[in-house]
Amino acid sequence: MMKLLTRPYLTPLLLSLLISACAGMGNQSSLYQQLGGQPAIDTMVDRLIVLHAQTPEIQQYFEQSNLQRFRDKLSEFICFISDGPCEYSGDSMALTHGGMYISDREFNTGVDLMIQAMDDSGISLSARNQLLARLARLRSDIIEQ
Ligand code: HEM
Repeated sequence: MMKLLTRPYLTPLLLSLLISACAGMGNQSSLYQQLGGQPAIDTMVDRLIVLHAQTPEIQQYFEQSNLQRFRDKLSEFICFISDGPCEYSGDSMALTHGGMYISDREFNTGVDLMIQAMDDSGISLSARNQLLARLARLRSDIIEQ
């Protein structure tokens, strides 16, 4: 290595490799950051609530709900599962949705509305798909129970 560094024509090459490796490390931001942090998550959740209200199949489930609590807990939950700086203080997905008997089809509609809410909030395609992959794992805790 020392011998290599003493060759003047190789030093710039090694330096540029080192700099690009460091720059690459800097790009490994959390999903929370890629989503746009709390402001983008809050915008997305607000948009989702509007979309729920416009979709009778989903809205029927929220008729007795405290929407302020839903807003706060869902924002916190998304922050938490995207590796953001939050602790989730709401109920588990199984406890929350147990007894609602949400069908597979309704779950898919709910996810479609989340996709729409993310698109409307300017969240990138890559961040959106990563979040969707994490949400999809919750399906069995949420449907038909
Ligand atoms: C991946 C999909 C979903 C996620 C991540 C999710 C997440 C959550 C969270 C974090 C809460 C708040 C829990 C709390 O208050 O402690 C909640 C509440 C609720 N969710 Fe979901 N949910 C999903 C899908 C659905 C679907 C598809 C429906 C209906 C079709 C639904 C209906 C509800 C209702 C009605 C509440 C309010 C419960 C209450 O008022 O006590 N959720 N959900």
